[in-house]
Amino acid sequence: MIKSLSRTALPVLLAATFTMVAAACGSEAPPHRAEGVVGLTGDQVAGKTLFEDNCAGCHVQVGEKMLGPDLSKPPRSDLSALTMATVIIDGQGTMNAFAADLTDQQIADVVAYVKGEFAGK
Ligand code: HEC
Repeated sequence: MIKSLSRTALPVLLAATFTMVAAACGSEAPPHRAEGVVGLTGDQVAGKTLFEDNCAGCHVQVGEKMLGPDLSKPPRSDLSALTMATVIIDGQGTMNAFAADLTDQQIADVVAYVKGEFAGK
């Protein structure tokens, strides 16, 4: 009797525990990589070079056309470092993601440069 009960109860218990653990994990999304980036101190000088190599092609006006928005004017100049880092990591619209191309420190450098150089101008 006890034997047959535990035979059915054990898998049920295990399944219930597993479901609860899975639910608990699912409710807490892992922090976005951008949150680590904003904890770093960006170097604007390094960021300038990185910006010229990776971003200026779309974000600095050459002739008539600019592929990306002007980062020197609101609302872009008002973006938080966290939003910027997220956009750089994930991409947005036709802007490509830089997750695989830039390290956390490089992203922090670019953000420091953009916020220092473009914001408020
Ligand atoms: C291929 C062209 C291209 C490149 C390269 C590029 N961007 Fe962009 N970027 C865009 C476009 C287009 C948008 C507008 C995206 C949208 O909202 O649809 C944008 C948007 C942004 C925004 C504003 C996001 C917002 O929420 O308004 C920031 C900040 C930005 N880019 C920074 C950068 C930085 C820094 C780099 C270099 C690491 C970079 N971009 C490289 C095209 C580019």
